[in-house]
Amino acid sequence: MKQFFITATDTDAGKTFVSCALIKALIETSTKTTRQSSVQALIRPETGDKNICATKPTKVAAFKPIAAGCELVDGQLINEDAKLLSEFSNCGQSITDINPIAYAEPIAPHIAAKKQNQQINVADINHHYQAVKSLNADVTLVEGAGGWRIPLGPSSLAPLSAEAMSLNINTANSTSNNKSNSPNDKLTVDTQKPAYQFLSDFVKGAELEVILIVNMKLGCLNHALLTYETIIADGLKCIAWIANCAASEPMNNLAENIAELELLLPMPKIAQFDYFNDVDSEGNEISFHEKINLAAQQINLAPLVK
Ligand SMILES: Nc1ncnc2c1ncn2[C@@H]1O[C@H](COP(=O)(O)OP(=O)(O)O)[C@@H](O)[C@H]1O
Ligand SMILES: [Mg+2]
Repeated sequence: MKQFFITATDTDAGKTFVSCALIKALIETSTKTTRQSSVQALIRPETGDKNICATKPTKVAAFKPIAAGCELVDGQLINEDAKLLSEFSNCGQSITDINPIAYAEPIAPHIAAKKQNQQINVADINHHYQAVKSLNADVTLVEGAGGWRIPLGPSSLAPLSAEAMSLNINTANSTSNNKSNSPNDKLTVDTQKPAYQFLSDFVKGAELEVILIVNMKLGCLNHALLTYETIIADGLKCIAWIANCAASEPMNNLAENIAELELLLPMPKIAQFDYFNDVDSEGNEISFHEKINLAAQQINLAPLVK
């Protein structure tokens, strides 16, 4: 089974848009005999029989472990990303199977959890992920939340000890008063801070292969490189990147920025999406599904199924 984690330079970068297009491409490609041999045989090398592949579309499961920004529908928190992922994937998952941890407010998920005196942790995410894995999909696509280093919150709900609190306060004072601020002081204080968990800890534990979506806007070179370097420093594989124009107004020098990223990022660029307008040249409305169809056709899947 292939397991991909979709991360991005930021929120609203196009993770959901690209995830839907990727799912569509993976499923469509497997049902088209012309390209099926290269993609399907690599996804299911164990079959060794390309004719069997031709009759079986690729099974793609989706997972959006945490989401903040949901609508309450019939007593259930429904996240739009999870809804879209459920429309494109083909393993019969419910929206809650896809998105088990959901909060209504569109804010940082761990802050939304904290406001309800809850805690998001890697163990819970792993638990839900096991259910997704049990579907035995050919490909499982996991959409992150925000950017790469999104916090889940402290490892435990225990409040800071009085000693730790006083150390933190003293440090704040000493910094603002410009008193002693040696590296040793900092080390002492840092050990008193609660250990944090991050969504990236789940990605590490599950050994997902990462695909980076770069939202092509001013600042994207820095964001893309920092994100890539951090993924690698976390010991993970970043197997591909996609240049995505998530805003209707294209950035200045788009081509030059893409060329720079192609030089600086070692992994292959598997797609380059312009902004898909809501209407065509004749003024006809283009639906989300039509946009995804168009985007799916532009993805080079080969580096993903190596
Ligand atoms: N290339 C694109 N063309 C048109 N709309 C896009 C494109 N990429 C993203 N969008 C739209 O931009 C918004 C933010 O994208 P989304 O995929 O939800 O970002 P993320 O999942 O990273 O938060 C959504 O409304 C999405 O449909
Ligand atoms: Mg999203």
